[in-house]
Amino acid sequence: PDLPGLDIVIFGGTGDLSIRKLMPALYRSELEGKLAAATRIFAIARKSQAVAAFQAKVRQGLEHYLNDGELCEKRWQVFKDRLHPVSLDIAAVNEQWDSFADQLQASPQSTAVFYLAIPPSLYGQTCACLAEKSLISPQSRIVLEKPIGYDLESAQAINDQVAQHFDEHHIYRIDHYLGKATVQNLLALRFTNLLFETLWDGKSIDQVQITLAETVGLEDRVEFYDRAGALRDMVQNHLLQLLCLVAMEPPHKLDAENIRAEKLKVLKALRPITGDDIHRLTVRGQYGEGEVNGAPVPGYLTELSAESKTETYAAIRAHIDNWRWAGVPFYLRTGKRLQERFAEIVIQFKPVTHLAYGRAAGQLQPNRMIIRLQPDEGIQLQLMAKELHRYEPHLKPVTLNLDFANTYEGFSSDAYKRLLLDVIAGDQSLFAHRHEVEEAWGWLDPILAAWHHPRNTPHPYQAGSWGPEQADALLERYGHHWVNPD
Ligand code: BG6
Repeated sequence: PDLPGLDIVIFGGTGDLSIRKLMPALYRSELEGKLAAATRIFAIARKSQAVAAFQAKVRQGLEHYLNDGELCEKRWQVFKDRLHPVSLDIAAVNEQWDSFADQLQASPQSTAVFYLAIPPSLYGQTCACLAEKSLISPQSRIVLEKPIGYDLESAQAINDQVAQHFDEHHIYRIDHYLGKATVQNLLALRFTNLLFETLWDGKSIDQVQITLAETVGLEDRVEFYDRAGALRDMVQNHLLQLLCLVAMEPPHKLDAENIRAEKLKVLKALRPITGDDIHRLTVRGQYGEGEVNGAPVPGYLTELSAESKTETYAAIRAHIDNWRWAGVPFYLRTGKRLQERFAEIVIQFKPVTHLAYGRAAGQLQPNRMIIRLQPDEGIQLQLMAKELHRYEPHLKPVTLNLDFANTYEGFSSDAYKRLLLDVIAGDQSLFAHRHEVEEAWGWLDPILAAWHHPRNTPHPYQAGSWGPEQADALLERYGHHWVNPD
């Protein structure tokens, strides 16, 4: 609000991401009074669209994606006047670019935020066009959606192209998982509580599991998804970023420079998975038909109407080779069409060293801290306790539960809103540096290459299950098992 003016320019402005996530996030920012009075929102798309038709499309999206009662007529009237659809073919530097440049330059004092919700192969060209039309000022910011590239080489090329026109301080590589409320709370939990940080290492922690499970299938993203697959779509970014936040050293200050430097050290310490280890430590799956939430669903190949070896499930046993994490496996998994939608980080502690209670008192379960990203955001601590109503000592696992929705009045989580406001405020703490993105690709490249070898085929799993049985076997070999919701 203290900015003189703000121009948010969304390339891919009428696309799925824009309508589903960005417009609701911007509207919520409006609702909270966080948009400067002179804010304009430009939605760039190849097809031309009349202003009224575009406003109606955004309105429809808001009705669908906002929570009940969030849509306020008065605020909508303000918000809708900010919306400007622009028809522009990025690939052609022509009079469309000129007329867009005129529109933007009508308010030269404004800070421009360019949001690229388009295929990464167009990032370089878009930046070059913005530069050619002199639309980049020292205050401009650019937001890049993931995945950046499809391997290390392509990611480096894209980062280089963007770097020709934008300084790293003005590049926001967005990973919406970092905007989720519980993820930010993970930092607060770790770095403001002596209780946990003193136990946060391989001396006390037995294993870490990070699961991003989805029930949806391909949705409308057939072409994109079949080219990407789970490793590129979820592991390269969301899963590895979460792993970094769990594993990083406490930064001396929680600012962008220090957080990003610590995350990078974690990525550099990831033990390479190459050669035979790829077969031993990773599992790749693809869903067949089955039942999800009580309804029959087709298999991946039927949804796709084509042959494909793209994985819709990935599981990895990873290690971080440093002093803190020596010997602690990090199990990562993600999949589509699984039994339930949930995203969780499980920190499982080691068993107690001495059993003072006899066996008759019951089986001890190791302590677990469960950080739940969605749904029902919160943090649970699983402890052992005595059943108080019994005379003889009998032990039972109990749960301490911090439920965000019940604890914080008016709590509602919108990761994109949070991150867009960070871009506007110029705070890069929750965005990835190019070195992180490239390090993550470098670690995954050998796995990608092996998985995409013509002889490699994903393991089938039934839709509505917890993934291929090979993923269970991966943990069982080490005496472990996946922690699924009850
Ligand atoms: C996106 C992936 O980054 O995250 C999608 O491209 C996935 O495939 C989505 O469905 C999951 O996000 P969320 O916030 O719904 O868990």
